[in-house]
Amino acid sequence: MKPRLLITRRVFPEVTEALAGAYEVHGNPDDAPWSADELRARAAPCDALYVVTTDRIDAALLDACPRLRIVATGSVGYNHVDLAGCAARGIAVTNTPDVLTEATADMAWALLMAAARRVCESEHWLRAGRWGRWAWDQFLGADVHGRTLGIAGMGRIGSAVARRALGFSMRVLYCNRSDSPNAEALGARRVDRDTLLAESDHVILVLPYSSQTHHFVGERELALMKPTAVLVNVARGGIVDDAALARALRAGHLAAAGLDVYENEPALHPGLLEVPNVVLTPHIGSATRSSRLGMAMLAARNLLAHAAGEPLPTPLVAR
Ligand code: DGY
Repeated sequence: MKPRLLITRRVFPEVTEALAGAYEVHGNPDDAPWSADELRARAAPCDALYVVTTDRIDAALLDACPRLRIVATGSVGYNHVDLAGCAARGIAVTNTPDVLTEATADMAWALLMAAARRVCESEHWLRAGRWGRWAWDQFLGADVHGRTLGIAGMGRIGSAVARRALGFSMRVLYCNRSDSPNAEALGARRVDRDTLLAESDHVILVLPYSSQTHHFVGERELALMKPTAVLVNVARGGIVDDAALARALRAGHLAAAGLDVYENEPALHPGLLEVPNVVLTPHIGSATRSSRLGMAMLAARNLLAHAAGEPLPTPLVAR
């Protein structure tokens, strides 16, 4: 008998087809996210789970799944999975590094450029029929080229963001738990968080979420930033205190922000919807076809390797 696999959200058909050879696949044809109770009930009889970042794989779920042997998340981030709990129960966990690095770095730059040069704000104004005449001081934005870029989190995506900064002749500062092996080649200098925020003209956040990085940028940190600065978050909601950010944007303590992730997504802090100087996108950092298909297929390859008793391509917790 094939092991039973639950795929919690509708995925590309070629991915489901690839998995059907090795698993009895149960999916979510409506693609509506399940409540924690419903997820637990559906996961209970399964040997394998194919999940996304909105599925909480916590102790209560693991306790309800005595047969579970692998959790494959279709994401590089894994703060929604209790890794220690899985390890203690002999459950393997895999994620999808690398395949989304370049697409996410591109998105960080898209948000930086759009926020700094007021692309969305001016477009909304134009579409509203308000463009009556050209003016010298219309939608003056912030310079990016030649300025200082601060990158918080110098892993794969942070390094890819820094590589792009070379083309913009930028000075790059970064903060990270340890020295980045790429820093020298990228001309990037490691500093502490407060120096990064105070000295950078613009800041891009690409660090993983954990209890240590919760509100990594809050009221105090925002006050350290230059009033001409742009803050970009393509990492995780919760790394920024969204309420404090909305206040800082409204008060002009910060020029603008570009956000792809939010503390309680898909709900947004209402203050963010009220200010014009923030570009808001719906967690689409990795959303190019090749990147998303690459992530979905990598999660499937991990599941297929597990079923075949082979080494897992990208384990967080090995079998
Ligand atoms: C990731 O891979 O962690 C992304 O946030 C998924 O959307």
